[in-house]
Amino acid sequence: MAATGLFLCLFLVGHLAGNLQLFIPGEEGRLQFNAYAKFMTTNPAVKILSYLTYFSILFHAVDGLLLTIGNRRARPIDYKYSRPAANSPWTSRNMGILGTIILVFIVLHMRSFWYEMHFGEIGTDSEGNKDLYTTVITFFSGQTGLIFAAAYALAMAAIAFHLMHGFSSAFQSLGLRTPKLAKSLKIVGYAFAIVVPLLFASIPFYLNATN
Ligand code: HEM
Repeated sequence: MAATGLFLCLFLVGHLAGNLQLFIPGEEGRLQFNAYAKFMTTNPAVKILSYLTYFSILFHAVDGLLLTIGNRRARPIDYKYSRPAANSPWTSRNMGILGTIILVFIVLHMRSFWYEMHFGEIGTDSEGNKDLYTTVITFFSGQTGLIFAAAYALAMAAIAFHLMHGFSSAFQSLGLRTPKLAKSLKIVGYAFAIVVPLLFASIPFYLNATN
């Protein structure tokens, strides 16, 4: 889970860098984003990374589910008296539910964009590339677009909480959280968990406000 989790963190950074191109206004933004989307779906090396991403999502989700079930089975009867908040943070006790929200988001998200890019009937731009840019802009435009932007923000909040525990926990599982590194890891983990989802969440609101 740690290895796939950290790989998915790298995916998030790459995906965010690509999506930040949606901030480029006008025709220049459209052409650049569509050329980027074409590269991401046709380059053989990126294709291997994509398959690794799909595998990591499935493995991470199934392993997480088995772990959550295993934890429940190990303690079928609740403690009569427990103060969980005194012993562990809320995020660490709710990784299963946060992960489930994220998985539902990924499935719906891939239906909206990935499926359209690969199997949908979308037009082309002036350079002959599939106009995925218009698909994304249309999705986040108008009143329904604002609702989708808000739904995305909620999903990004789930990712933020998931990462607040997950990031440093992955290093712990790999045996890399030494006493010397523990404090810095916590700070880097929190920064990552807040900055990355915040930047992701800002994109739909920007697109809604400017289109
Ligand atoms: C505002 C935020 C986001 C926007 C605008 C966005 C946009 C897109 C677009 C346009 C695609 C299709 C690209 C293609 O198939 O080449 C895509 C694919 C994808 N997105 Fe996002 N995305 C966002 C956030 C996220 C987040 C937070 C996650 C994960 C938790 C995610 C997971 C994925 C995955 C797994 C794919 C398929 C990638 C692949 O085929 O290699 N996205 N996204």
